[in-house]
Amino acid sequence: MDVRTFWLAGHPATGDTELTVTNPHDGREVGRYSVPTEAQVEEAVAAAHQVTRQAAALPVHVRAEALAHVARRLAERADEIARLISAENGKPIFWARGEVGRAVATFRFAAEETRRWSGDVQRLDTEPAAAGRLAYVSRVPHGPVLAITPFNFPLNLVAHKVAPAIAVGAPVVVKPAPATPLSALVLGEILAETDLPAGMFSVLPVENERAAGLVQDPRLPIVSFTGSAPVGYAISDQVPRKHVTLELGGNAAAVVLADADLDWAAARVALFSNYQAGQSCIAVQRVIVEQSVYDAFVERLLPAVDALVTGDPADEKTQVGPLVSVAAAERVEQWIKEAVAGGGRLLAGGTREGATVAPTVLSDVPADAALSCEEVFGPVMVLQRAASIDEAYAMVNDSKYGLQAGVFTRSLDAAFRANRELEVGGVIIGDVPSYRADQMPYGGVKDSGVGREGVQSAMRDYTYEKVMVLTGLML
Ligand code: SIN
Repeated sequence: MDVRTFWLAGHPATGDTELTVTNPHDGREVGRYSVPTEAQVEEAVAAAHQVTRQAAALPVHVRAEALAHVARRLAERADEIARLISAENGKPIFWARGEVGRAVATFRFAAEETRRWSGDVQRLDTEPAAAGRLAYVSRVPHGPVLAITPFNFPLNLVAHKVAPAIAVGAPVVVKPAPATPLSALVLGEILAETDLPAGMFSVLPVENERAAGLVQDPRLPIVSFTGSAPVGYAISDQVPRKHVTLELGGNAAAVVLADADLDWAAARVALFSNYQAGQSCIAVQRVIVEQSVYDAFVERLLPAVDALVTGDPADEKTQVGPLVSVAAAERVEQWIKEAVAGGGRLLAGGTREGATVAPTVLSDVPADAALSCEEVFGPVMVLQRAASIDEAYAMVNDSKYGLQAGVFTRSLDAAFRANRELEVGGVIIGDVPSYRADQMPYGGVKDSGVGREGVQSAMRDYTYEKVMVLTGLML
């Protein structure tokens, strides 16, 4: 099998060691990739640093055309890339195709946003002392972005860091997840087809232990990390003076209020607790149901969970595939066992075969069990009863995390109240917390992180406001 090259300052390169990617479903080898040496990492960072001014001065039409090119080429190669994502990650092909479609949109949004990135003009002659003065307020990049990306969306969460960086004219150095770097390397191949200056991007599939050197490098002033809370906070503790964006975990809640469409709510909760085997930071983990409709909801939910097709991720009909590794599945199995030992009732699933955990539903799980209070990142949901809307919203907030929450209701009042009261970065009314449109702001509060992604939000995050005052004007 060919060894994939990595991307060093826009060019393909090989190091002196290789790593293998295996399919979590059957352990089959999916590909091999070359790992950069320390000298090559240094070369990539030096190139990003050196190109900083040129990148910031790059005309918008060049950036926009590069971004549009990536969107077009991802669309043209969608089938191949979706198969690669599915093989390296174990994600069912249906969801992998969805991810490629989203990455196309992410690059397209960035191509559009960069054309609108003009800054603002502010008149200052509102005060006599500032007569004849005008401010031009623009945003300029802090400098090269270090993008550390996770395994669960190995293409689109890379796109969410790379596309805004190019849009604002910032070089970007990507460190993809070691388990799933292949789609990021294909993205590197497509970026190399553009007219971007060579040093503007590198894709360096180094082992996680080597990330600290990149994080601490002063030539990479922005660190954008998506992954677990302990790793994210360890990064920000290492570099308290850097601008660090953290997209961390969650144990997202779906609230089902008494006026909800129960068929819709049950179908959506069943699917989005289990999509990607629950390996999304906004997969449904806690399901909080108003007491008066609890039994009717569960009656609908269990058949919907049972109907999910679990199996080979390459099969077009599969809805739930394996987790990323056997070790990850064993950890989820252990959490289920602990919850049951503590008094939890298993209503569905609970079994594991290799890296695959059956879609699992529990009720009566103790509040201090890991399944209630940590992020499971597996196909498991915990049902909870709420006596009232007040109690339901309080239960959502009874978590150290706060990424997104979903509220199934038809009441505008309940919707606006959720928006006021829920301590999360996003409130999804009428659907699961797992809903994300790639142009909208996305990020959390509490231990779910700091900063926002979503193309325009990340563009703001990678830049600072700069004001130029013009003096002596006739306005
Ligand atoms: C995440 O797991 O944080 C990303 C979810 C998504 O992009 O849908």
